[in-house]
Amino acid sequence: MKAISLLVCIFFYALVFSQRVNVIPQPVSIRQPKITANFNIGSSTQIVLEGSNLNNVANFLNDYLQQFYHFKLKVVKNGSENNAIRLIYERMDNRVTGAYRMTVDNRGIYIAGDNETGVFYGVQTLIQLLPVQIPGSKLDSYRVPIPFVSIKDYPRFAYRGMHLDCGRHFFPVSFIKKYIDYIALHKMNYFHWHLTEDQGWRIEIKKYPQLTQVGAWRNGTIIGRYPGLGNDGIRYGGFYTQDEIKDVVAYAAKRYITVIPEIEMPGHSSAAIAAYPFLSCFPNESTKHPPQCAWNGDTTGKQVQQTWGVFEDVFCAGKDSTFQFLENVLDEVMTLFSSKYIHVGGDECPKSHWKRCPFCQRRIKDEHLKDEHELQSYFIQRIEKYLNSKGRTLIGWDEILEGGLAPKAVVMSWRGEEGGIAAARQKHNVIMTPGDWVYLNYSQTQNEDSVTIGGYLPLEKVYRYEPVPGSLTADQKRYVLGAQGNLWTEYIANERIAEYMLFPRMSALSEVLWSQKKDSADFGKRLMTQFKRYDLWGASYSKAYFDLKATVLPAENYNGILWKLDGKNLQGKIFYGQGDSSGAMTGYSQPIIVSENSRLTAKYVGSDFWTSFTQKFFINKATGKKITLTTQPSRLYQGDGAFTLVNGVQNEKGLAKPKEFLGFNGTDCEAMIDLGNVQQISDVTAHVFEETSSWIWRPKYFQVLISPDDNVYTEMGMTDVIQFNETKSNGSMTVQQKSVAARYIKIKLGNYGVIPEGSPGGGQKSWLFVDEIEVN
Ligand code: ACM
Ligand code: ZN
Repeated sequence: MKAISLLVCIFFYALVFSQRVNVIPQPVSIRQPKITANFNIGSSTQIVLEGSNLNNVANFLNDYLQQFYHFKLKVVKNGSENNAIRLIYERMDNRVTGAYRMTVDNRGIYIAGDNETGVFYGVQTLIQLLPVQIPGSKLDSYRVPIPFVSIKDYPRFAYRGMHLDCGRHFFPVSFIKKYIDYIALHKMNYFHWHLTEDQGWRIEIKKYPQLTQVGAWRNGTIIGRYPGLGNDGIRYGGFYTQDEIKDVVAYAAKRYITVIPEIEMPGHSSAAIAAYPFLSCFPNESTKHPPQCAWNGDTTGKQVQQTWGVFEDVFCAGKDSTFQFLENVLDEVMTLFSSKYIHVGGDECPKSHWKRCPFCQRRIKDEHLKDEHELQSYFIQRIEKYLNSKGRTLIGWDEILEGGLAPKAVVMSWRGEEGGIAAARQKHNVIMTPGDWVYLNYSQTQNEDSVTIGGYLPLEKVYRYEPVPGSLTADQKRYVLGAQGNLWTEYIANERIAEYMLFPRMSALSEVLWSQKKDSADFGKRLMTQFKRYDLWGASYSKAYFDLKATVLPAENYNGILWKLDGKNLQGKIFYGQGDSSGAMTGYSQPIIVSENSRLTAKYVGSDFWTSFTQKFFINKATGKKITLTTQPSRLYQGDGAFTLVNGVQNEKGLAKPKEFLGFNGTDCEAMIDLGNVQQISDVTAHVFEETSSWIWRPKYFQVLISPDDNVYTEMGMTDVIQFNETKSNGSMTVQQKSVAARYIKIKLGNYGVIPEGSPGGGQKSWLFVDEIEVN
């Protein structure tokens, strides 16, 4: 027994010794000696504080060692320079605060920072030099090797943020602290805490107790993806007491992180209005909810919302009592949060109530405003004046540009980069948080089985993100303070899913924000260690990096389709066969041609994990045939090109898996299928998708033209009837005839057009999502 464990130990240390330096975000410079050597942290190693106020940093290190390695080091003021982790200040000339340098040699570890923050970041790097496998668990036996290295490092951006929506789902203080630790471990420095929403008000305000007594609770939540398959009927909610908030802010400060509270106005305010109906333009009108969403409980009076989206009942901009209320709320918020920045939302505020509210119309007249957009601008500017008078700076989502920007406001650009570009051109500070690049609630894999809000944002894309738009001049570029990852939690109901969505994309974002240079291949190598670090933390994370995916490909000569499983960075074996994922796989090791309706399984068996995919195929006359598009889908949703529409795969679960669709933004879908020879056909069906919360609307019509020779076309039919399946998201439109002869089939799906006001994305171009064209 002894001999075996000794052998294991030797093997283990051999592994540790060969470990390379894998730090994320990548430091500015890393130098390692040619011959690998280590300094070993042992029981006699001391943390020596050679500057004032460094206890806090030392405590963080000790807490980390205690939590994950089960030992602590002695902290002393003036100790030996040998066998020590020395923390010290040193002047550094970097524009952005947080610079540090560190060396590890045979005497120990030396970390010098430009201030406490710099030393703290040096300690974060040291933490990442610790082995990801845990050495002995007993205090007297630990001996933690740290490779000799010399590092110089400083951050690129001053604003390196992460956001968490606690309105849609509530997360306990314990998780908020974990989240803040994750931010710190990535050398990020802002936590944007989204505290108020239509579905819940989460911050105790002493002057208005109903905000949390009433506004923090909803009587149910839709089940699954919007509009939902019913309502769970469970009373849901929670809020943070002022004591808890003070505790969180202090906890963050000890990690050199500023907490920015967000109090949403004038939109996304249903929960506040449920608590205090006078805040609405129409206090006596009952809360409306989308009719297609199931509701639980009382439908009269003002209610906290139970589904997602944008709601028309917003704060009245005409009544002074609204502003009095908000100023009182902000007074308490400002006593709790020391942040210079206060976020007031400003996004997605429908103007329909303001249009018919006598108070709001009166305000427009009295203030000589042009319209309701200028009224929104009035609203934000009035709040900005108040915040400025208290020495604070307002942040708002990019909608605050509409109708004129408040004079000193910082703009958070989320609907792409345009808002940020416009604001920088107006000499306003900007924080970039464009949905397509940093909304970590988007799917990170095209094979996502859990419900996400839509959108596709793989790790590689986050890593590629460049926060400073190239279209800005050098002078304008200085207004880009940095960027932020957002985590909206409509479909993130618990901590494990939150972590799964965060990691590893948040690690990629940290490098975007911190590092001067990026190298995606090198990041990929370091990621392998980062995965083990997540394991050490006990955090869940996505393995989408291995990109295991089963793809459908056209077979040769348009003769059906081929199903193929592959991935990246894999070293295992792949099998194909019939049946489900549980049984032993008999079958083939080569991709298979699919020629009839079937259900197939492909399985990957690797050294660390195995996984399998099951796919249902719907084969028809169009499957695998030659298809060309006459209109082009958006760059963002091009599936596997035109072939997507005839690949024999139909979206089944009411989830818009991006790969299975072509998405057309504001335009029609037109395509031509060549069946290869003249055949008798009787019906043509278009499989489409509708999810208005994601701006995806049904087609206006479906038209089919046919021809024997691609010369003369006749109309086979046209329909505006759409049939939805039980998920209410997948729809089909069918054109039928008794039997007609055709070789060439032209199809056209008309885009719905502009999204109606009052719906999410109101006034914008709608999306048309097409999944499959079926010919029988
Ligand atoms: C936002 O995503 N509505 C800011
Ligand atoms: Zn009003």
